[in-house]
Amino acid sequence: RRHLLDTDGLSREEIQELLDRAKYWKQQGKQKHALGAGRFAANLFYEPSTRTRVSFEVAEKRLGMETIQFNPDTSSGVKGETLQDTMKTLASIGVEIAVVRHAGVGVLAELAREDLGLSLVNAGEGNGGHPTQALLDLFTMQEHFGEVAGLRVAIIGDIHHSRVARSNVWALKTMGAEVVLSGPASMRDAQLEQHAPYVPVDEAVRQTDVVMMLRVQLERHRETIFTSADDYLRAYGLTGKRESMMQPHAIIMHPGPVNRGVEMEDRFVEHPRSLIFEQMANGVWIRMAVLERSLEKE
Ligand code: CP
Repeated sequence: RRHLLDTDGLSREEIQELLDRAKYWKQQGKQKHALGAGRFAANLFYEPSTRTRVSFEVAEKRLGMETIQFNPDTSSGVKGETLQDTMKTLASIGVEIAVVRHAGVGVLAELAREDLGLSLVNAGEGNGGHPTQALLDLFTMQEHFGEVAGLRVAIIGDIHHSRVARSNVWALKTMGAEVVLSGPASMRDAQLEQHAPYVPVDEAVRQTDVVMMLRVQLERHRETIFTSADDYLRAYGLTGKRESMMQPHAIIMHPGPVNRGVEMEDRFVEHPRSLIFEQMANGVWIRMAVLERSLEKE
């Protein structure tokens, strides 16, 4: 099966192939293709999502696939059916790809130990990995700068709770980019800093080509980690002062959803430097490339 569990399982050639295929699909425009005709994908979202869930559904439909929006709350999981048995059930009914968002880190890798009869695609797993987000981020950078190799990328914010940071570090480093991390001390991640150094926020903003701000994941913090949104914005967010420190060519990215006025001043979401909405749009093309890969036989 062609699973996509995380970006650390992809070689440089495999990532480049996905970026190239995403470019191909983008060039084809907003038409419906026959490649996935008669083939079924199920989208199982055990955690909330707007961008990822909808763009997977659009990608599936653009490929001509049949899509099933699986609702965990009305499924037999409520009666105690395991995720493993849910997958086997879907496969036996005819589903070939399961796109899964889940809170449990390692859940997909555990499922992938057994041949369940379908391909798994990680659509965001706790604070573990979010490979299609990282791939769409790389695609957006490649489109803007020409190539990812040699770029300097700052990932700033709630690093510890961020699956986006993790998957981006693996993918960016594989492709030859340089990555630095920054944010509050309470949100640092010692393990990830073995792969990308921590630098103070002002330094991160000043030195890099890409300033990627992360959402403060309030739902994953047990206690209040800052006294107010203003305090966070002043200390770690993208303020006017920090934006003026950025290199003239540097861009702003954010995986979304943005806490406006927390990670960045409201006006920077739609700012000329911002590629936030391009990231969302590119999510469809990358997910088409990922689904295409999963439909292919090994
Ligand atoms: N970036 C991202 O994963 O957004 P959603 O949670 O809305 O899918």
